[in-house]
Amino acid sequence: MNKIDTNNLPKHIGIIMDGNGRWAKTKGKLRLFGHKSGVKAVRETVEMSAQIGIKFLTLYAFSTENWSRPKSEVKSLMRLLISSINSETKTLLKNNIKLKSIGDTNLLPQDAKEQLNSSIEKTKNNNRMTLILALSYSGRWDIISAVKKIIKHKITSDKIDEQLFEQYLSTKNVPNPELLIRTSGEYRISNFLLWQSAYSEFYFTDTLWPDFRKSDLEKAIIDFQSRERRFGNTVEQKNQAC
Ligand code: IPE
Ligand code: IPE
Ligand code: MG
Repeated sequence: MNKIDTNNLPKHIGIIMDGNGRWAKTKGKLRLFGHKSGVKAVRETVEMSAQIGIKFLTLYAFSTENWSRPKSEVKSLMRLLISSINSETKTLLKNNIKLKSIGDTNLLPQDAKEQLNSSIEKTKNNNRMTLILALSYSGRWDIISAVKKIIKHKITSDKIDEQLFEQYLSTKNVPNPELLIRTSGEYRISNFLLWQSAYSEFYFTDTLWPDFRKSDLEKAIIDFQSRERRFGNTVEQKNQAC
């Protein structure tokens, strides 16, 4: 197998971690078992990303739309969120990883908010990699929140351009993701980083999230490294630039 070229790493990888429910079903278990089993995949992905030198990793953990799942599943997911952040904080500290979140986290239950904020605070001086959890997140929410803030700051239309707009998104000061991975064989973005993924390279795998391992991440990065990113230009222009 080809090896990762460490001189051509994506700075920022986003992952839509999907397929926990189906994974559990194939084993004759409840959906929650799939969610719990997904935590190991999170740990491996985070550790490997930091090891190879990725600077930003955004994990889509809970979408705005996921609030409409059965109450019992939402409740279990919130409990799992609290216990996982609590138990993983020491690994983040050991690996020098900073935790951040994006999304409408005001909607999270109080204890989840407290756990999240406490881990964000504890890891705030880490600088090897930033792990961004997308919680109660949707790309449309992000864009609408930016518009609201711009209006609140009374910014006039002549001042608005892409650079300014990005300063009002939840990913302010975070580079756009070059690579977006979705597991579980679904080919859609499900309201993830809509603005930010304008020029992302997409990688889809049939692997269900709880089965996602370091080798899967490695495959995705190697595939990314074989892509020709043209940003609207012609092949000839691209070759000239090299
Ligand atoms: C992803 O797995 C986790 C969340 C969206 C919270 P799913 O729960 O969507 O699993 P499937 O897609 O139903 O298999
Ligand atoms: C997307 O997965 C959200 C997360 C992974 C957190 P979903 O399972 O909610 O998305 P759909 O319903 O398949 O589009
Ligand atoms: Mg799903």
